[in-house]
Amino acid sequence: MTKYKIAWLPGDGIGRDVMDAARIVLDTLKLNAEYIPGDIGWEFWINEGNALPDRTIELLKKTDCALFSAITSKPKEEAAKELKPELQGKGYSYFSPIVRLRQELNLHTNIRPCKAYPGNPLNYKEGIDIVVFRENTEGLYAGVEYFPLPQEVYDALAKTNSKMKKFKEFGLENIAFSARIMTKQACMNIVRQAFEYAKKYKRRSVTVVDKPNVLRETGSLMIKSAREVAKDYPDIPLYETNIDAQCMWLIKNPLDYDILVAENMFGDIISDLCAQLVGGLGLASAGNIGDNYAVFEPTHGSAPKYAGQYKVNPLAMLLSVKLMLDWLGENRFAVKLENAIADVIKEGKKRTYDMGGTNTTLEVAEEVARKL
Ligand code: NAI
Ligand code: MG
Repeated sequence: MTKYKIAWLPGDGIGRDVMDAARIVLDTLKLNAEYIPGDIGWEFWINEGNALPDRTIELLKKTDCALFSAITSKPKEEAAKELKPELQGKGYSYFSPIVRLRQELNLHTNIRPCKAYPGNPLNYKEGIDIVVFRENTEGLYAGVEYFPLPQEVYDALAKTNSKMKKFKEFGLENIAFSARIMTKQACMNIVRQAFEYAKKYKRRSVTVVDKPNVLRETGSLMIKSAREVAKDYPDIPLYETNIDAQCMWLIKNPLDYDILVAENMFGDIISDLCAQLVGGLGLASAGNIGDNYAVFEPTHGSAPKYAGQYKVNPLAMLLSVKLMLDWLGENRFAVKLENAIADVIKEGKKRTYDMGGTNTTLEVAEEVARKL
């Protein structure tokens, strides 16, 4: 019996390339694990009308965690056109499998570390070390959306909120509507995860980012929840900022920030900004973490133009593996892997194109493996 069962979800495009890189490193570490492949991605949409087949959800339920790479997704109409002929016009509707995974498995916490490893030519500034905590299941991404706006939804809104009335003149067929739904439970939870992390890793501060001056209900709920949770962590200061200003300050004074916490969309935006401060998509890793399950993934997508060329940077994926090892409690392996990655970056002998090098995905992974 192996110690861990890990669902192995390569997905599409360069997802497959960087997954091979992950395997080189995991095999060198000799993690006591079995890797069980699962179906996810575009070909399952085309052939089955479901990019995340139920059998994959079942597989996840039988494993300890999953390593996921990247999938291709396309807008609704375009996706519908690519379905195989037998499935066309049967009411299949494309939904992002990663968003579905997060919601179905209640992977409420998205953690995205953004560290400037010394010697990375892509660092915006040396010394940046930010970790973004993003709520992963609610907010504008909860999926409560309409186009056109149904009459009964309009009526209910207009009845309870006078600001809705002015939209009527445009015609309901011209109104798209997405609801930002946030619960106190989820706000409290994401802030608590951020503080717990700050406490565990002795970080300096937690900054909650939202826009309560304009988004008066949802934004205020986030800030009030943060203040309430912060009382349990008197030694860690809580700062409150607005999303727009925060974007500016991250460019101006990135070293001032340590742990950032935000709801789903603001967290998504700000984590991309932070990722670019330390090298961009080729280095951006993420963990989707629930109470009993977690899915680890690089932030990047399937980059179809590079698919199968083994050209892209594997470090985002390898840093995601490091997060997985942390979560599994394999701290010795996690530290070893991070040190090896840091060494390879510092030495600069093996680099993919985005870091100014000419090496392949697998050459960089092999170099990391050599240092383990
Ligand atoms: P992308 O992240 O796939 O690629 C954008 C560009 O970033 C690439 O063309 C490449 O220049 C660079 N890049 C990405 N990963 C890199 C790596 N490991 N090393 C070096 N450079 C890298 O985003 P794009 O082009 O917007 O989307 C392509 C497909 O991926 C779409 O179908 C999109 O929906 C999907 N996607 C999936 C995600 C996921 O699986 N979680 C996340 C983002 C996009
Ligand atoms: Mg994103």
